[in-house]
Amino acid sequence: GYMPKICVITGDGIGKEVVPETLRVLNEVHDFEYIEAHAGYECFKRCGESIPESTIQTAKNSDSILFGSVTTPKPTELKNKPYRSPILTLRQELDLYANIRPTYNFKDLDFVIIRENTECLYVKREYYDEINEVAIAERIISKKGSERIIKFAFEYARLNNRKKVSCIHKANVLRVTDGLFLEIFEKIAKLYENFGISSNDYLIDATAMYLIKNPYMFDVMVTTNLFGDILSDEAAGLIGGLGMSPSANIGDNLGLFEPVHGSAPDIAGKGISNPIATILSASMMLDHLKMNKKAEIIRNAVKKTINNGYLTPDLGGSLKTSEVVNKVIEFIRDEI
Ligand code: NAD
Ligand code: IPM
Ligand code: MN
Repeated sequence: GYMPKICVITGDGIGKEVVPETLRVLNEVHDFEYIEAHAGYECFKRCGESIPESTIQTAKNSDSILFGSVTTPKPTELKNKPYRSPILTLRQELDLYANIRPTYNFKDLDFVIIRENTECLYVKREYYDEINEVAIAERIISKKGSERIIKFAFEYARLNNRKKVSCIHKANVLRVTDGLFLEIFEKIAKLYENFGISSNDYLIDATAMYLIKNPYMFDVMVTTNLFGDILSDEAAGLIGGLGMSPSANIGDNLGLFEPVHGSAPDIAGKGISNPIATILSASMMLDHLKMNKKAEIIRNAVKKTINNGYLTPDLGGSLKTSEVVNKVIEFIRDEI
């Protein structure tokens, strides 16, 4: 059968736990060719680079990338050596412009944040103006970048039978940048009325409140890079925490799949990290590789695992990472 090439980057901290555990789950539903590639802070300490060129090439030459998490060193640990964020480098180099971050609790809550993934403050054009003693960061919102992410959000809604797309912005203050984003949103939204998809927009500050007070009001949200970063961690708080939130970074061809969380140094090495976010990210990878039935089998098994109370400590349970994965695998075997 078809053996897709998966570039596997485990990274640092709990990435080294949740990714190998997720491969055990993937192996239950399909045969893949895994190609390991290195990145992260440990890689940096070992070989002097946080993301070697060979890792970028391996990623580019694969069918999909599965990414764990990496630790960002504190500036004091770097002693002025240059350090590139591996995940930001991959998003830029592979032009993975759409970051899909779903939030669902396997009961009633179910919405998706579509986060622009290449622009905004993430262009990292920061500098210090010595003369005026001012630190400055440029926030880039392009017409092309906005059009492609907003179209992506509406296409996502259409293909996944979603009924509403909400634009999240701060156009009341950022009149030029978010003004452009909102203007493009309104233009594209009109084209999708024919498909029965409605639209509206909210300011980012109010959205932060609505998410806590009534998250059920959201269906698909589309937003700029930094707002999407912050809102997606807030959204994770609605469903038990970051151990539950998967994500897909999508470009025109390639996809990179990763949990929303980081390397969690506070619990790393104890074998108690929640593997669900990474397992659900892998199910999004299967969707992207057009193995939707297999993706659904994994999600169903995760749903049963959660709803039967097989939980890691972050969710109030007492199971180890591997014990939760054993349950997921049992439920998969029941279904196949
Ligand atoms: P974090 O996501 O690593 O952890 C935040 C909190 O959530 C911690 O209490 C942690 O224990 C908990 N948590 C996260 N994932 C969990 C899981 N799977 N199971 C159980 N609990 C989980 O964020 P942080 O502590 O702010 O950052 C730690 C490091 O990770 C930093 O160096 C940061 O830069 C980096 N980071 C990397 C990525 C990435 O690789 N994509 C993403 C976010 C943060
Ligand atoms: C995320 C992370 C990254 C981001 C960091 C680690 C660069 O927080 O994927 O949400 O800010 O996008
Ligand atoms: Mn984040």
